[in-house]
Amino acid sequence: MSDPILVVEGISKGFPGVQALKGVNLEVRAGEVLVLVGENGAGKSTLMKILSGIYAKDEGTITFEGREVELTSPLQAQHLGITIIHQELNMMPDLTVAQNIYVGREPRTGPFLSERRLNEQAAELLKRLGIDLDAKRRVGDLTVAEQQMVEIAKALSFNAKVLIMDEPTSALTDAEVETLFQLIEQLKAKGTGIVYISHRMDELRRLADRVTVLRDGAYIGSLDKAEIDIAKVIEMMVGRHVDESTRPAVKDFSAAPVVLDVEGLSTKSLLSDVSFELRRGEILGFAGLMGAGRTETARAVIGADHRDGGTIRIAGRNARIRQPEDAVKHGVGYLSEDRKLLGLMLDQDVTFNTVLASLSSYTNALGWMGDRRAKNQTKQYVQQLRVKTPSVNQVVKLLSGGNQQKVVIARWLMRDCDILIFDEPTRGIDIGAKEEIYRLMQQLADAGKSIIVISSELPEILRVANRIVVFANGRIKGTLRNEEATQEKIMHLAAHGEENR
Ligand SMILES: Nc1ncnc2c1ncn2[C@@H]1O[C@H](COP(=O)(O)OP(=O)(O)OP(=O)(O)O)[C@@H](O)[C@H]1O
Ligand SMILES: [Mg+2]
Repeated sequence: MSDPILVVEGISKGFPGVQALKGVNLEVRAGEVLVLVGENGAGKSTLMKILSGIYAKDEGTITFEGREVELTSPLQAQHLGITIIHQELNMMPDLTVAQNIYVGREPRTGPFLSERRLNEQAAELLKRLGIDLDAKRRVGDLTVAEQQMVEIAKALSFNAKVLIMDEPTSALTDAEVETLFQLIEQLKAKGTGIVYISHRMDELRRLADRVTVLRDGAYIGSLDKAEIDIAKVIEMMVGRHVDESTRPAVKDFSAAPVVLDVEGLSTKSLLSDVSFELRRGEILGFAGLMGAGRTETARAVIGADHRDGGTIRIAGRNARIRQPEDAVKHGVGYLSEDRKLLGLMLDQDVTFNTVLASLSSYTNALGWMGDRRAKNQTKQYVQQLRVKTPSVNQVVKLLSGGNQQKVVIARWLMRDCDILIFDEPTRGIDIGAKEEIYRLMQQLADAGKSIIVISSELPEILRVANRIVVFANGRIKGTLRNEEATQEKIMHLAAHGEENR
């Protein structure tokens, strides 16, 4: 077994009202992937921010290549050889890809900055990493996934000895995830130690040489590859047993009224002849690979994208939906997969952000009203979804990434829509809270709402959906009732379209 490059012992860190870390230990060895797991708010990002020189620790020691070090700034940590790719992207949108990668380190000819050499250098780096992107493009024009690839390229340009990736795949497509995993293999072979934070057990299974578990800021333990057992890891994370394999109760919806009837939907870019029905009280799952047409269907239905054909009937009547506001008027709500568009007001508190979308029921002609009621209802969701926050008055930007997302989910669960479309609702959310979200969805459905869940995680689809619609290449390839569906059957349908491309 190789020597540890980085040894962390007894690290503690407090924020006002929160003890984020309590005596945590961690070890990173050369050429290994250490997967760091724990529920939302467990302290993962805080620990990594300490290791990358962003936060100062309160207590504990950090030993790097055999010497005790003080990490005082991100630049110093990077020069030592510790680099981080953050959970939240922080690129400068008006600069080019090349400028973002080498900001502050631009190649110079004498006193002058050489734009040409900068672009060449960046192009070479991207090529070496197998990232297909033009170095001269403006970062603000890139997709979230492309921006993430730029972050990764930037981190790797520092020749890191320890590379920290904080939930790197949350915005990547399947193909890009594959590219990332290949990069990780290359780096391992070169002896780089990698710390990889993820909520996805499939990634843990695939990548982990070792796993370290945090819970509530405390170090719970580490397991070597041979000892890794997912059920055990989950139990260490959550502190109790979680059964992931349950299915919804078998129900017959044939007598329930059709609330949404989509027929022959098509768009220029992708969709062709997409037809499906959603019944009252039903949860319908949309499965398929990235780009198969699931999100596109949702966007076309709510009028976010232009439809080139097809009809939409809501509660039996033709609905004229030209833009998302029309959809809301018809009682259709869409929770977007793009977290950047979710419009959290980061400087406002948890209560404000939770009730924002349901504002009309808390305001009267005089403006803001019912503060107590808003707080009480927010408290209930905070408890149910286990949002880790000192109080409902905490400013949202101080919550961990996953807890910010829980606030968004709470907001949508609270919204009074008859039809709710959730696009990748639990991405970045820990396993315990996922279960709560599924339970709340089921409650909404039992109360007569109808729900569409778009998800790339098959266990999630099988866990919640009464029926599963499988997409490939912009078409529906098949529909399965939950009781007849298996992961294999869904995958077969989803891949079938791929072969015919
Ligand atoms: N700057 C800050 N000020 C106050 N509290 C903070 C700050 N940064 C983090 N916290 C709190 O510290 C705790 C740990 O947060 P951290 O971001 O490390 O969690 P995490 O394990 O990365 O969670 P996630 O899986 O949701 O990303 C949380 O309760 C969070 O609200
Ligand atoms: Mg985090």
